[in-house]
Amino acid sequence: MATPIVETVNLRKTYMLGKVPVEALQGVNLKVEKGDFLAILGPSGSGKSTLLNMIGALDKPTEGKVFIEGVDASTLSDNALADARRKIGFVFQFFNLIPRLTARGNVELTMTIPGLGRDKRRERAEELLETVGLKDRMDHKPAELSGGERQRVAIARALANNPKFLLMDEPTGNIDSKTAREIVELVKKLNEDKGVTIIVVTHDQQIASQTRRTVLMIDGSIVEEKVN
Ligand SMILES: Nc1ncnc2c1ncn2[C@@H]1O[C@H](COP(=O)(O)OP(=O)(O)OP(=O)(O)O)[C@@H](O)[C@H]1O
Ligand SMILES: [Mg+2]
Repeated sequence: MATPIVETVNLRKTYMLGKVPVEALQGVNLKVEKGDFLAILGPSGSGKSTLLNMIGALDKPTEGKVFIEGVDASTLSDNALADARRKIGFVFQFFNLIPRLTARGNVELTMTIPGLGRDKRRERAEELLETVGLKDRMDHKPAELSGGERQRVAIARALANNPKFLLMDEPTGNIDSKTAREIVELVKKLNEDKGVTIIVVTHDQQIASQTRRTVLMIDGSIVEEKVN
């Protein structure tokens, strides 16, 4: 079988809250193959965001390992880690867009593909915004966009560097259910038509039901896996 795009082995994360240890992850083993579409479900505090941060190399595990395309992330230098991170697209619950930049500007700014000049960057940003259905909103700043439109800018931005996979933390957490449905459709299309590997943390059954696979986390462990 091909090397998984991401694999976690006995992943543990203990946060220290003063002197009190909080065991956010208690030995998580997860494999994600290229082209997969995985939902991570679970109650608040079960460790979903912590797991996503480890997978995205945004934070280091206390124990265990994360392999990104077969490479042990803990063996990478800071520079190599930054490079690895650029290959991952992140979509956060609260969009995290830069207010003073337009939709186009937000997407362009993230682009770090070597050798891509200014014009090409702009062209690519426009293509990505078109992909997410924002052709007519490129010159709007975040404050001039609806919640769903902002989330779509965030998705376009996450795709800016041709990521190997997309990590999304509650992408529909702050938008109404109709807009959420549109985002779900968009994400599904990215997976089906463009082959983007997607890992999404969600409380939203509607999203979970559209994915290929779901895992359920409780108290820092995966307790159930299901293929849809
Ligand atoms: N920086 C931190 N310091 C101490 N404890 C933390 C820290 N971050 C998270 N925790 C604790 O770790 C546990 C897992 O948190 P995490 O954010 O991963 O949960 P979650 O499943 O994403 O929850 P939610 O659905 O509410 O976003 C929680 O008990 C939380 O209180
Ligand atoms: Mg969370």
